Amino acid sequence: MGLKERVKSSESLTRLAHWMLIPRNRYRPRWWVRALWNPFVHKRGKNAVFSRRARKDLFPFRPFVLGANSFVEDFAVINNAIGHVIIGERTLVGIGTVIIGPVVLGDDILIAQNCVITGQNHSYANVNLPIAEQKDIVKETIIEDQAWIGANCVIVPGVTIGKHAVVAAGSVVTKNVPAFSIVGGNPAKLIRQYNWGTKEWARIGNEKNKK
Ligand SMILES: CC(C)(COP(=O)(O)OP(=O)(O)OC[C@H]1O[C@@H](n2cnc3c(N)ncnc32)[C@H](O)[C@@H]1OP(=O)(O)O)[C@@H](O)C(=O)NCCC(=O)NCCS
Repeated sequence: MGLKERVKSSESLTRLAHWMLIPRNRYRPRWWVRALWNPFVHKRGKNAVFSRRARKDLFPFRPFVLGANSFVEDFAVINNAIGHVIIGERTLVGIGTVIIGPVVLGDDILIAQNCVITGQNHSYANVNLPIAEQKDIVKETIIEDQAWIGANCVIVPGVTIGKHAVVAAGSVVTKNVPAFSIVGGNPAKLIRQYNWGTKEWARIGNEKNKK
């Protein structure tokens, strides 16, 4: 039996291994995991920068990729404890933004300040158990190439935001966003859609622009 199987087969060894990775009641791995283990398993492209003042809540047993020329700004938090976080090339993760995997960001994306993009929900079905003790519901959240997410937005699990879409500042996105569109509000609704015929961003609900 290999070491991994031995640890998994014993409850006390599993608890010890968990404690060695992460302090009790915390969500951030110990420094040695971040400094000595992660760099050997996580991929970082050329000129990719993860600000020293951003939080790397990253575990080696799930993928984390930061593509070439991408930048994670100060006070951002990236967490891959329950799902992968894949960030493409030339993508900006703005100041104070929190990303909880599973999340996939494409190339050339702008995420402004203080957004939350998450692939994690808590189950609340059992009314006799605290929500914190119920299982995670995990759905991958995807943002496609060239999208722009305005400041203070929340993108909930399972949503896909299409290519070159714009999410207006302060929006809560609960449904898929079509490519080349603008959505805004809480819950976010379609505001504009690019019209390839007229080559204009057509106002939704305006009959003249709908033609
Ligand atoms: C979405 C946004 C790009 C639209 O800008 P715009 O193209 O100049 O469009 P307008 O200001 O004409 O707004 C278009 C419509 O969207 C609505 N709208 C604009 N911003 C909105 C918002 N944050 N939430 C909800 N609706 C919004 C407007 O009221 C307008 O509605 P109408 O068509 O009924 O009049 C802009 O409002 C925005 O939110 N930018 C994000 C800024 C930001 O976060 N910067 C951080 C640094 S990257």
